[in-house]
Amino acid sequence: MATLDELGTGSLPAAGSARITVSGLERHFETPDGLLQALGPLDLEVRDGEFLCIVGPSGCGKSTFLRVAAGLLDPTGGEMTVERGGTGPLSAMVFQDYSIFPWKTVEQNVGFGLEVGGRAPADADARTEYWLERLGLAQFRRSYPSELSGGMRQRVSIARALVVEPEILLMDEPFAALDAQLRMLMQDELLALWQEHRRTVVFITHNLDEAVLLGDRVIVMSRRPGRIVGEFEVPFTRPRTADLRGSGEFAALEQEIWVNLRSEAYGAAVPEPERPVVPAARGLFRRNR
Ligand SMILES: Nc1ncnc2c1ncn2[C@@H]1O[C@H](COP(=O)(O)OP(=O)(O)OP(=O)(O)O)[C@@H](O)[C@H]1O
Ligand SMILES: [Mg+2]
Repeated sequence: MATLDELGTGSLPAAGSARITVSGLERHFETPDGLLQALGPLDLEVRDGEFLCIVGPSGCGKSTFLRVAAGLLDPTGGEMTVERGGTGPLSAMVFQDYSIFPWKTVEQNVGFGLEVGGRAPADADARTEYWLERLGLAQFRRSYPSELSGGMRQRVSIARALVVEPEILLMDEPFAALDAQLRMLMQDELLALWQEHRRTVVFITHNLDEAVLLGDRVIVMSRRPGRIVGEFEVPFTRPRTADLRGSGEFAALEQEIWVNLRSEAYGAAVPEPERPVVPAARGLFRRNR
């Protein structure tokens, strides 16, 4: 298998050159009951090459934010700018529900973005081959998605996003449908991949453990309309592996994020008398915004 260096990175700039700046970003939807404010106002910077995780209650606007970042939705207020270094694909998105074509084989699914991007067939084939091998899909190249396990389907979806070498990878709960063990394996694989092919990543999850393991920073969003109510730096050095979970510092950070999420994001949703007593956040990791 050729390495990516041998294949050449085409128009890809130095890894992680993109940066997203969001200011006063809002998005509402017209519904039969009137305007529904789904998101914001949101102020945020995603740094060069950063792995940013976003957590927040269901329906708070996380997917809406990602769809705006992907250019699939326009904001209805504020703005988002993306500084970029290259001329290739700016972003690629991985969805929770795999979003792969059921009528195409694994190989065709992975190569699709290159095909529509107009890559020369031989180059597209070599790149597709690289990512099939890299994600352990080579022996399933002629299988259809319906013949694959959930984990394999999710790998196809990730390969499909990575093959076009986007500057920014947008991942919306990519592992949510996987069982707990498979999810841990996929987290390890994503860590290894990201350490090798650094990109700016925005990763949405409901799983705090996943956010702390993967992220450089974790953002906590409020209930709808989602705004940022917490921001935590993840101090662990890289390369990381799942073994990090065993450390006391890991547990302390996860707990601190949970306390923030529970009180700020879910707080008012829990009736006052039933609200559990929450130990005060230790404030070791939290940044003041
Ligand atoms: N196209 C749309 N039309 C109307 N309302 C929408 C549309 N898309 C999203 N919404 C509403 O906007 C709000 C935010 O939705 P969004 O999918 O961004 O939430 P989320 O944080 O991703 O939730 P979850 O964690 O459950 O995935 C929700 O109330 C949702 O019903
Ligand atoms: Mg969502």
